[in-house]
Amino acid sequence: MINLALIGMEKGRQYETIITTKNSDGSKNAAPIGVICAGNDKIINRIFKGSHTLENIMREKDFTVNITHDPELFTISTLENLPQDYFNDDYSIKGVKAYFKCEVTGLTEAVKQSDPIKKKDEAIVIKSQVVDLIINEDIKALNRAFSYVIESLDNLTGFDLVDDVKRQEYLNRFREAYRVVLKVGRKEDILAIREIKKELINKGFDL
Ligand SMILES: Cc1cc2nc3c(=O)[nH]c(=O)nc-3n(C[C@H](O)[C@H](O)[C@H](O)COP(=O)(O)O)c2cc1C
Repeated sequence: MINLALIGMEKGRQYETIITTKNSDGSKNAAPIGVICAGNDKIINRIFKGSHTLENIMREKDFTVNITHDPELFTISTLENLPQDYFNDDYSIKGVKAYFKCEVTGLTEAVKQSDPIKKKDEAIVIKSQVVDLIINEDIKALNRAFSYVIESLDNLTGFDLVDDVKRQEYLNRFREAYRVVLKVGRKEDILAIREIKKELINKGFDL
């Protein structure tokens, strides 16, 4: 039985992964993409139109999700593509500790006006069934909420030491951190960011 909890995925939370797909010329493509866990063996992606990943998934109806904490893999696959010798024949990325294979079960137009980056109608929501989960070594899928909590705590300790301009910058950063943590964070991250918000309000800041 497939259970995404084995790689630390909780239902309703979003994780940062690298998705590999097959290009139309048969070569392999990799891109960092968020994965929302929708159950033990189900996931949801929201992918903006114009990416190779979306085009490939819509054509092939399957893809591979790589679980890694390697900053270099995230960076190369964002700025360009991973060279072909980074991939195994089964589309996983060489050396990743875990990966899983997905088959698409549904595609719908996404309308989410709260997103700061893109306007409505520019993304597709993809629902998929996980059909195989390979765990080579113990690893938890990456959730970026914890980094925001740490960053916010670091800023919090600096609030009394900086001038008004810097303080406004910290507040704006905190607002963004709060938004993201509520959206993607685990229960404990959400609890923590709410405590930080309370502390900032106690200090007299308007949030
Ligand atoms: C950590 C991270 C997460 C991302 N998540 C998504 C996502 O969920 N959906 C999306 O459309 N793009 C996402 N992106 C942006 C894509 O990775 C980026 O557009 C990439 O260039 C697409 O490459 P491709 O054309 O090879 O598919 C993310 C980028 C990063 C760095």
